Amino acid sequence: MKGIVLAGGNGTRLLPLTLVGSKHLAPVYDKPMVYYPLSVLMLAGINDVLIVTRPAEIELFRRLFGSGSRLGMRIGYAAQAEPRGIADAFRVGADHIRGEDCALVLGDNLFHGAELPALLRSTTQGLRGCVLFGHQVADPRRFGVAEVDARGRLLSVEEKPEHPRSHLAIPGLYFFDDTVTDIARGLHPSARGELEITDVLRAYLMAGRAHLVRLGSGVTWLDAGTHESLLAAGRFVRDVQHHQGTRLGCVEEVALRMGFINADACYELGAEMSDSPYGQYLMASARAHRLSRTPATSPEE
Ligand code: DAU
Repeated sequence: MKGIVLAGGNGTRLLPLTLVGSKHLAPVYDKPMVYYPLSVLMLAGINDVLIVTRPAEIELFRRLFGSGSRLGMRIGYAAQAEPRGIADAFRVGADHIRGEDCALVLGDNLFHGAELPALLRSTTQGLRGCVLFGHQVADPRRFGVAEVDARGRLLSVEEKPEHPRSHLAIPGLYFFDDTVTDIARGLHPSARGELEITDVLRAYLMAGRAHLVRLGSGVTWLDAGTHESLLAAGRFVRDVQHHQGTRLGCVEEVALRMGFINADACYELGAEMSDSPYGQYLMASARAHRLSRTPATSPEE
């Protein structure tokens, strides 16, 4: 399965933070925002990812991740010249997807939770049609909104409705089979001039091939697209990390955990940043991983 991180757009809601740079490179506590959505694709087992961003920022992303090889991945880059809408990712990324299933994650979305890895695994394994998620929120009007029947079957999807039919917001993480590029090719811009992700979801829904999975309390979802939510996301990451002694969105550690790289490679990546707590954490993770793989020796040996 291929992956796309959509990290373009003008970030106008974050001005002046985004006057000269991408919000996806802005810090969410101790690491650039883009680490979080990328790590979600990696947790889904995806090691071939395209980062779609503004032309002016491609080089910055390339400096961050290079070819992806240091993470045991393939990371490519493509420019979206104008913010033509989220579904434009499948047009810009058509060559990357080339007949495979594809996961799309929005570059300002963060997911965390003990249930997340298993949820992602089951989603990718049995994928037919498309999978979107639903998350209960107090005010769904600034999101895509899903309506489901009593048995949880998807009935409708709407983009930022004035009068939402439910409180189920649709987070920015979607899984599609290989028909997504054809669907995206046939889309027309909406009244606000964008190729809407909800129109892609609706096409699958009309064909009876869209499945909604509810994110329960075991998964936290945050979108960091406004000043308030960016600060809230940073605080959330800090609090969880301090409390649990782990790191969220730690791409090097996820690469190790997913078997993309080995402990030596992870240690080396950490050693390059050994002045920072982040680098020290990576080195400790690599050491712990090595120990967990070392067979215990019996007293006679
Ligand atoms: O966060 C989840 C929500 O994200 C969904 O519930 C909505 O259905 C979906 O439309 C989206 O709503 P937003 O208002 O948050 O979308 P926004 O325009 O902020 O873009 C989301 C991300 O995608 C952001 O990281 C920028 C990137 N983007 C967006 C557009 C429209 C691009 O890279 N290119 C684009 O053309």
